[in-house]
Amino acid sequence: MKTEILKLLRESGNYISGQELCSKFGVSRTAVWKVINQLKEEGYGIEAVKNKGYRLQITPDVLSSSELKSRIQNEWAGRNIYYYEETGSTNIDAKRLGEEGAVHGTVVVADKQNAGRGRRGRAWESPAGKDIYFTILLRPEFPPDKVSGLTLVMALSVAEAVKGCCGQEAGIKWPNDVVLNGKKICGILTEMTMEMDYVQHVVIGTGINVNLDKMPAEIEKTATSILMESGKETTRAELLQKVLERFEINYEIYERDLDLRNMMETYNGYLVNKDRQVRVLDPKGEFGGIARGINAGGELLVERPDGKTVEIYAGEVSVRGIYGYV
Ligand code: BTN
Repeated sequence: MKTEILKLLRESGNYISGQELCSKFGVSRTAVWKVINQLKEEGYGIEAVKNKGYRLQITPDVLSSSELKSRIQNEWAGRNIYYYEETGSTNIDAKRLGEEGAVHGTVVVADKQNAGRGRRGRAWESPAGKDIYFTILLRPEFPPDKVSGLTLVMALSVAEAVKGCCGQEAGIKWPNDVVLNGKKICGILTEMTMEMDYVQHVVIGTGINVNLDKMPAEIEKTATSILMESGKETTRAELLQKVLERFEINYEIYERDLDLRNMMETYNGYLVNKDRQVRVLDPKGEFGGIARGINAGGELLVERPDGKTVEIYAGEVSVRGIYGYV
């Protein structure tokens, strides 16, 4: 009932009478009053006016499951939500839930992670109250070699959401870092559990630097937050809602096509490496070239000085700008 009351209050934007809430949920005035009090304790500013009812005035910047459930209207992405104030890593939680049979689209969100994990065995700093850490559990019915494309699908969804929600010109550093003004604001870690040639489940963990006002010294040259670039605080639940909305749409396109043919133009529009000099850090030998965009398989096309264009597969190599991170 808490989620529904919150949803009604938010959607109406006006007063809703206590009586209306009572008859809608078939409960007593005291029961409604208790829920309103719980919401107030969670930081919601709810005005109560005699003969008018309740009106939502302030929404706190929280990622609680009632806040998210009252916003998300998707068919499957985020219909089932687990929220933890504090956890080790949402990827680990999502994998456990995957083993336990949780449905496709289940989302695990945390306000704080104690053991946030990044790619290549790095840690992902995850302090409380400022950023978004979430993992979506997927049960794709396609072959394992198609799974890596999902990371690009998530990167695209985050870039679109940041643009839509914060009005910021987000970009993508191939394959899956989302950047603002050349610095990273989002990292994605995709992990797959498979059996023979069958995908059991996939977890896509995403960390977005939202309202941090300072980056740790070790990463301040390459990382930033939406607040630091825009000067404005973002409501995290609104941004996450938007990411999941875009992800549901983009995933369904990917699932149908089994490649990025219908998304690569949009993706390339966000690609900050496009038509720029890059260094390809290939373990078999580094080389330079000009990035020309991705192909339908999500590979980066790099034009070498000899005029030959090579396709770079994300799993094997990484790409750096010649003057720095992008
Ligand atoms: C990277 O190194 O760029 C990937 C970072 C991924 C971080 C996210 S935060 C939510 C999820 N839980 C984790 O432990 N990692 C991912």
